[in-house]
Amino acid sequence: ASRPSPTATATPEPVIPPFDKAARSIDDPASIWVVVDKLRPLQPAEYEPADLVPVPVAHTWEPVLRQEAADAVVAMFGAASQEAGLALASNSAYRSFGAQQNIYDGDDELTARPGFSEHQTGLAIDVGAESGVCSLDVCFADTPEGQWLRDNAHRFGFVLRYPADKQAVTGYQFEPWHFRYVGTDLAAEMRKQGITTLEEFFGLPPAPEYAG
Ligand code: DAL
Ligand code: ZN
Repeated sequence: ASRPSPTATATPEPVIPPFDKAARSIDDPASIWVVVDKLRPLQPAEYEPADLVPVPVAHTWEPVLRQEAADAVVAMFGAASQEAGLALASNSAYRSFGAQQNIYDGDDELTARPGFSEHQTGLAIDVGAESGVCSLDVCFADTPEGQWLRDNAHRFGFVLRYPADKQAVTGYQFEPWHFRYVGTDLAAEMRKQGITTLEEFFGLPPAPEYAG
């Protein structure tokens, strides 16, 4: 008697679940996905992160960040050095409500009002070349350090938060030095989808100006 031919079993395709945009809060200031812009102040306005730690990297001003972001900065600066021979430095990291009050210069295209700055989340850092060349200047984008960060920051969970062509969305001029930690999952997904702002990724309204 002939044996039944074996049943063809298709090799299952690996199932990659779609990215879950609701996996973390975008409202809770303690969430690494929190979206802060001119229409989305920190709540409470004087929020202070619970896990701030010093960031052991070269700097102009002593940087502190939330632990997870601090670790990512150390890894990123290390990679820039090892992979590309570039020396990075922190120019500014966590800023309290009071510190933001002191640096707010009245120009809403350049600085955030206190209670509205990503720096107050403990997840944002202004990075420069250790040499100081083009520090906090748009010309940082054309330096090897600025280009390396543009191309590699996502590997460490950072996004370039204020892209050149997105002032109408973010409310701020191009800041090639300002990087926001969101974790590697979200940074990779934004890269994959080619979406460069948190507002667009999460379907939030553009925030060119304050409401009030
Ligand atoms: N320069 C950025 C927008 C801030 O002040 O938070
Ligand atoms: Zn900044």
